[in-house]
Amino acid sequence: MFQKARRAQAQSVRKRLVAHISAGGTTDLASSVMRLPAHCYTDPARWAAERQTLFDGVPLIACLAQDIPHPGDRIVFEVADHAVLVLRDEKGQVRAFRNRCAHRAARLVGSGGDPDLRRGQRIVCPFHGWSYDLSGRLVNIPGRAGFDPETLENCRLLPVVAAEQDGVVFVRMRGNEPLDLPMHLGSFAPVLATLELTAMVPVQASRLDARTNWKIAIDTYAESYHFGVLHARSIGNAYISNVAAFDDHGAHWVLTFAERALADLVGTSEQEWPEARHVGTYFIFPNTVLVAGDIGPSERFVRMFRIFPGDTPGEMVCLFSVYISGLSVENYKAKFGTIDDSKSDVTLEDYEVAEGIWSNLATKDEGPDLIVGRNEPAVQAFHRAVMDVVGLPI
Ligand code: FES
Ligand SMILES: [Fe+2]
Repeated sequence: MFQKARRAQAQSVRKRLVAHISAGGTTDLASSVMRLPAHCYTDPARWAAERQTLFDGVPLIACLAQDIPHPGDRIVFEVADHAVLVLRDEKGQVRAFRNRCAHRAARLVGSGGDPDLRRGQRIVCPFHGWSYDLSGRLVNIPGRAGFDPETLENCRLLPVVAAEQDGVVFVRMRGNEPLDLPMHLGSFAPVLATLELTAMVPVQASRLDARTNWKIAIDTYAESYHFGVLHARSIGNAYISNVAAFDDHGAHWVLTFAERALADLVGTSEQEWPEARHVGTYFIFPNTVLVAGDIGPSERFVRMFRIFPGDTPGEMVCLFSVYISGLSVENYKAKFGTIDDSKSDVTLEDYEVAEGIWSNLATKDEGPDLIVGRNEPAVQAFHRAVMDVVGLPI
């Protein structure tokens, strides 16, 4: 339905990229250079405020729709201090609950284990067998005589606010007021719709724990300036470094990197150009990068990277997932070399640098400010949004 819109968008971004290439390798620029003191990454109080404001108070992507396609399907979304059970109820609505039994607080569903425990009309606690329906109501208790009815009356799963939009399932850890996703997404909402994530089927998920700050990790996804140097032996060959189109949507943004093949279009007439193919890097504030693209007329992929703070300012977790539509896993692997982004050369290169940055910043003498160039507008936009929402300017 949105293929035309994606193609039109790809066509207009391609024009901008070809113009940059023909100008000798320019790129979309921020209005000025940004300086970031090291304490923006290392200060424990700032980190705690970010964790609380952004990861408890802002909608986070828990999964995509096809992770829980049928009523009764469920996943566990574990992040920072929270473990949330996300499921689809009988009516097809998304619901979320703390992954915690009302009896003696056992985890209801483990993150791995028996897939049968991740579907069905009941959620059965693996400890003593209390069971709940998909609305979180307690419906069965072995040994009921051990409990008085007044106690049981108030026992149910603790709800967590959840909602779905355009194939993306969001949860918010704190508060009861419903999610206002149109407000959260702002001008990014129509962009999200064009990605048609509703039909994307999950085919891979993995996790990487790294000794760096969560924002340092996100910075590495937000520019192509480093491609030719750091990724010289991986994706550096496929892209022209430091040539990118940047589109700002408040706290969210879109980056399109210049594939090398675009250089062949310089000096040719637009009428001769082959049909544009959509691919872009999308940031959904505060922590999710989606690389989404069309491979063929009905073959699409999405690679999702969700970055979370770990237990200290110098620890983080990235959840990697791949979704495809109209494409086999084999064809995906043939195109991208691997399906597990947590083990790819690009990831290892990025995270090695990110860990090195952290060890340089986390010294007693925090040293001079970090410099974020005008050619790194998405990095700047990310830090500005974090500071705005948390309410802690530099
Ligand atoms: S803790 Fe769940 S049934 Fe006992
Ligand atoms: Fe990178």
